[in-house]
Amino acid sequence: MVIFVGAGPGDVELITIKGMKALEKADCVIYAGSLVNEKLLAYCQKDVITYNSAQMTLDEVIEVMHQMHQKGKKVVRLHTGDPSIYGAIKEQMDRLKTYNIPYKIIPGVSSFLGAAAAIKEELTLPGVSQTVIITRRSGRTGHNEGGSLKDLAKHQATMSIFLSVQAIDEVVEELLSAYDKHTPIAVVYKATWEDEKIIRGTLEDIGKKVKAAGINRFAQILVGHFMASHYELSKLYDENFTHGYRTGNSKKKGD
Ligand SMILES: C[S@@+](CC[C@H](N)C(=O)[O-])C[C@H]1O[C@@H](n2cnc3c(N)ncnc32)[C@H](O)[C@@H]1O
Repeated sequence: MVIFVGAGPGDVELITIKGMKALEKADCVIYAGSLVNEKLLAYCQKDVITYNSAQMTLDEVIEVMHQMHQKGKKVVRLHTGDPSIYGAIKEQMDRLKTYNIPYKIIPGVSSFLGAAAAIKEELTLPGVSQTVIITRRSGRTGHNEGGSLKDLAKHQATMSIFLSVQAIDEVVEELLSAYDKHTPIAVVYKATWEDEKIIRGTLEDIGKKVKAAGINRFAQILVGHFMASHYELSKLYDENFTHGYRTGNSKKKGD
């Protein structure tokens, strides 16, 4: 059995209890060493076999999984954040199918959620944005399926941009085609890690600030007016609004 586990954004307490238990029972852990916090390996047994996949090809990863499975060993494939987001797990799962190796996935806290918590904001603010776009700039891998930043910016939704801080000037330029220059933007480097850094600004000044802070990798870019102070109160907790869990006892204002 191979278990794909979401390691969470970095803080070792942000892995799920289920993920932690899978690490405790694992005979072998293949972890994405460029981003996963190695301190998570402290949850494992002393004689666990570990591989850092940052130095491995897909073939090598699958080969380890295959060999371990043949020996009846439990394998954890530890991915940063949630494995379903830019985790390149589909290609691994498809290869496991060809070997008839069973697998399952334990989700994790994605880094865009770790970043939202770090800046203490709500991504879906009533009257501002009820949509979150998760995307990345098309980079060396050439992917921008689903729309370029320019196209996506037209929605004026909250945007979480992965894997792109190294091209912050280009990101800003594309966003400025639809957002105004005063639009708030935050760059969160290593959200939830001990050396986390938060840079806040607007589209006008974020490039300079990010470069001055020396951030060129491992960061979330969060964009949108959800970081501004104008919004509507949620209907869910509005005393004049009833719903399935709170009917008939709401007091009217001025009662
Ligand atoms: C290959 S993707 C993996 C994303 C991961 N599966 C997730 O759900 O967060 C790597 C990118 O995720 C973002 N990232 C991962 N961990 C982060 C963290 N702790 N703080 C900020 N950004 C992070 C960065 O944009 C980084 O370049």
